[in-house]
Amino acid sequence: MAEKIRVMLSEEEVDAKIKEIGEQISKDYAGRQVHLVCVLKGGSFFMCELAKRITVPVSLDFMSVSSYGSETKSSGVVKIVKDLDEPLKGKDVIVIEDIVDSGRTLSYLMEMLKDRGPASLRLCTLLDKPDRRVVDVHVDYTGFQIPDEFVVGYGLDYDQKYRNLPYIGVVELGE
Ligand code: IMP
Ligand code: MG
Repeated sequence: MAEKIRVMLSEEEVDAKIKEIGEQISKDYAGRQVHLVCVLKGGSFFMCELAKRITVPVSLDFMSVSSYGSETKSSGVVKIVKDLDEPLKGKDVIVIEDIVDSGRTLSYLMEMLKDRGPASLRLCTLLDKPDRRVVDVHVDYTGFQIPDEFVVGYGLDYDQKYRNLPYIGVVELGE
């Protein structure tokens, strides 16, 4: 079975959008330091590119979560596979995600991080599939709203493949 990747958002489009978000965050957090929390693995490519575009001081941390449930349907109960190295108390935190789909993972995660007492907590996602939303999540910075198609690239995988594509593509399964 051969898979083909159809380009949905080109490398140039994605790069331009990340630059835009970086400029917006730099304005919004002028005079402050931002603490970026990357949700592994998908958020890592986006976070690295975004961090380079932010002009206020930046610190970084990483966490890895897995949702209980099947591959295609997350249950919303999140297991922390790797927790943050540092406390969030008093920090201006932005959670960096690859995509918000049903919203189950993020709504759970944001509530959990809020309990750690950050000075502020926002959510930034490269992609958003609003048609798929089951649980309400407030997204502060969105790169692109996309239709309900399974996408890969820029950190997003299909069976752990294609994370390294420098663009966003749709997997098309051949015969
Ligand atoms: P949800 O918002 O809790 O449904 O889960 C979001 C997670 O599902 C994301 O962080 C991705 O890991 C994964 N996901 C959702 N849609 C896609 C997609 O189109 N391609 C790759 N992974 C996806
Ligand atoms: Mg993810």
